[in-house]
Amino acid sequence: MIEIRLCMGSSCFSRGNEVILTKLEEYIEENEFQKRIKLKGEHCMGNCSEGPVLCIGETIFKGITWNNLLQEINQRMKNDI
Ligand code: FES
Repeated sequence: MIEIRLCMGSSCFSRGNEVILTKLEEYIEENEFQKRIKLKGEHCMGNCSEGPVLCIGETIFKGITWNNLLQEINQRMKNDI
């Protein structure tokens, strides 16, 4: 199980987490990963100017794009088996 915590603060939301949230939900649904990926929303993480910010487990990612996030998740899902 991997946990992804998305910053839902207004800055990160407009910098990309709104789109990332939608794409993540689709990705989880399409791959039936509901039991393997846990999504959580967080308040501002204090790095607004470097958004969008999210955490996978204990690792924080700043300024992440959907493509980079997807690569990271796919890698972690392989290692999680
Ligand atoms: S709004 Fe995301 S770090 Fe502040």
